[in-house]
Amino acid sequence: MKLGDLVKGGAQEGKEKHVPVVELVSCKECGENAIKVTVGKEVAHPNTVEHHIKWIALFGVKNGVAVHIATFDLGPTYGKPTVVTHANLEGLSELVAVEYCNIHGLWEGSLKL
Ligand SMILES: [Fe+2]
Repeated sequence: MKLGDLVKGGAQEGKEKHVPVVELVSCKECGENAIKVTVGKEVAHPNTVEHHIKWIALFGVKNGVAVHIATFDLGPTYGKPTVVTHANLEGLSELVAVEYCNIHGLWEGSLKL
């Protein structure tokens, strides 16, 4: 088995609460593009010690290779699974976010640039 076989996406049950939604938004402070990743945008995901989004990792795709942009390690209850970051998008064709739910596993979502 490959790790990729364990990553769920937009077709699986529970997608509304788990698939990370990747968007470009305008930063109110600097006016530049920022990357926003939201888990549970359609339907809020639980955020308890027993069931929560543990981390979100964001990658760019450059010439078919994943390049790491940022990883967010979230504490349950206090850390909400919506993150915003700035990045150099030069040369990137796509953004891919992967998140880990401690009950439902790995999920991915992407945005073509
Ligand atoms: Fe979950």
